[in-house]
Amino acid sequence: MAESNIIDGKAFAAKVRESVARRVKMLKDRHGLTPGLAVVLVGENPASEVYVRNKARQTVEVGLKSFKHDLAADTSEKDLLALVAKLNADAEVNGILVQLPLPDQIDAQKVLDAIDPAKDVDGFHAVNAGKLWTGGKAMVPCTPLGCLMMLKDRLGNLSGMNAVVVGRSNIVGKPMAALLLNENCTVTIAHSRTRDLPGVCRGADILVAAVGRPEMVKGDWVKPGAAVIDVGINRVETEGGKSKLVGDVEFAAAAKVAGAITPVPGGVGPMTIACLLVNTLTAACRQAGIEEPEDPGA
Ligand SMILES: NC(=O)c1ccc[n+]([C@@H]2O[C@H](COP(=O)([O-])OP(=O)(O)OC[C@H]3O[C@@H](n4cnc5c(N)ncnc54)[C@H](OP(=O)(O)O)[C@@H]3O)[C@@H](O)[C@H]2O)c1
Repeated sequence: MAESNIIDGKAFAAKVRESVARRVKMLKDRHGLTPGLAVVLVGENPASEVYVRNKARQTVEVGLKSFKHDLAADTSEKDLLALVAKLNADAEVNGILVQLPLPDQIDAQKVLDAIDPAKDVDGFHAVNAGKLWTGGKAMVPCTPLGCLMMLKDRLGNLSGMNAVVVGRSNIVGKPMAALLLNENCTVTIAHSRTRDLPGVCRGADILVAAVGRPEMVKGDWVKPGAAVIDVGINRVETEGGKSKLVGDVEFAAAAKVAGAITPVPGGVGPMTIACLLVNTLTAACRQAGIEEPEDPGA
């Protein structure tokens, strides 16, 4: 039977978590080391609370240590920076994640820049962004890392392919482009000022949409046979006052022509947390001078 063109991110993420769990056990057996991830949540944003709860649950499920820090919404920047400094110095903590968004009184960039780059499992520190673009050993942002894993799993060698990334944010678009360039793709980064976006997209063998606009990328922008990765998570109203999640790609139409496509939900989303676990493992190995897993997704 022919392989479905739908990339099942949920199943792939489960495979990645199993692989992380195996490697965590190996680290414990061979080196007596159990990596730890500290997650810091400031305030009571309901979406952030769900993310943080899921992250903590999955961290424990793969055998990592989980340290959760819930701070009041009126926490000062100084107090948050003091906690980050404490976590930087804590040998039991190999990865630190400060959940965004942060309340207005706190400069998020200042906090992200205070995290030890070696423990920066979100990969948002300028040192890690720089390493990613200059070919160094970076901590790679989780969402684009998950996208790359799915692409390599489906397509194998990406060398020479035309990749178009729509969106140029520091957390998705730019690192995604860097990863694809590192895989020897010919990369175009498109954004809100791009001329003839449909035409640019039609040239893509790999099309990554990270925009935040419901179903903006139309089915007829997709080159037949292309691999489409939909990063977007948009909540839209449906009839009867209900709501549902859709991506940045017009899924039904695009799925008819794409060679491979991620659905929303069930595509990129589940891979993001799985990659956070991968990054915690990678960070712990690097900190301990232990050989890190070559392909943590395998
Ligand atoms: N699945 C996950 O785990 C995950 C993780 C992170 C984000 N997301 C989702 O991914 C989406 C993007 O997130 P983000 O943080 O990267 O968003 P962002 O920071 O708002 O960036 C959006 C990008 O899209 C571009 N854009 C906006 N309108 C456009 C248009 N009409 N044509 C072409 N480009 C346009 C913007 O261009 P300019 O730079 O020119 O303004 C910008 O670069 C969101 O839906 C978010 O919820 C999902």
